[in-house]
Amino acid sequence: MSASCRPRRAPAQVLLLGATGLVGGCCLQLLKARPEVARVWAPLRHDSLAADDKVTALPFDFDDAAAYATLPEVDAVFCCLGQPLDRLDQRDALFRVDYQYPIQVARRYQGTLDAFSIVTSVGISRWSPLYYCRVKARLERDLRDLDLAALHLFQPSLLLGDRDSPHPWQHWFQGRLGPRRSWFRGPLARFRPVGAETLAQAMVGLWLRGEPGLSRLYAPRMETLARELG
Ligand SMILES: NC(=O)c1ccc[n+]([C@@H]2O[C@H](COP(=O)([O-])OP(=O)(O)OC[C@H]3O[C@@H](n4cnc5c(N)ncnc54)[C@H](OP(=O)(O)O)[C@@H]3O)[C@@H](O)[C@H]2O)c1
Repeated sequence: MSASCRPRRAPAQVLLLGATGLVGGCCLQLLKARPEVARVWAPLRHDSLAADDKVTALPFDFDDAAAYATLPEVDAVFCCLGQPLDRLDQRDALFRVDYQYPIQVARRYQGTLDAFSIVTSVGISRWSPLYYCRVKARLERDLRDLDLAALHLFQPSLLLGDRDSPHPWQHWFQGRLGPRRSWFRGPLARFRPVGAETLAQAMVGLWLRGEPGLSRLYAPRMETLARELG
């Protein structure tokens, strides 16, 4: 651990975006179980979270710019929002979910947070032919310009995990590449498929370490952090 890390000890208030999704759901379970977490606030567009002692679901209109100022004061934000894979061709919706909502939350909290942790994607670039990759790259660039004590950018390749209704494309790749993860070594290691649970453990683990500044993480470091968190 670097000398400047300040491991999280005091109970924290955490905001979790995307708590109903695959990665967000894993984060929710991990955060709930941690003694370092006093409360998880989960802004949701649907009333879709079971009540819990430690979790507060916040009905939230992500398209209402004024609503962001009403979000509670927290110590850390975990963002696992994402446009569903079967709707990546809907550019307006993708831009809102994968750029506007996260950046508005980050702006709301800049200067006040210990850490802002977010899932983007491997292979993103402002010059990518894929709109999805350009949007995620723009988000990362604009997040870096904000006053955030720690910015943790997680860039997974294919995510592995059980979904209620997996997209056929996702199901196909998961079935083919999941069992062949060991093929992704050396320069290909960052493209190794990673379990949603592993990614969530890495997100929570890095925050608990209190690593400051900008961190960009690919599959190998996610796996290491997940092992450390146990
Ligand atoms: N799947 C992959 O292989 C892969 C690979 C690389 C990166 N990623 C990135 O990883 C992140 C997490 O992926 P995931 O597979 O865990 O996503 P997911 O299971 O599809 O969950 C997405 C979350 O975003 C929320 N959301 C979607 N549209 C919304 C909207 N219009 N307004 C408010 N909330 C909305 C969903 O809430 P609702 O329950 O309300 O729909 C859900 O909580 C995403 O940013 C994704 O781009 C995924």
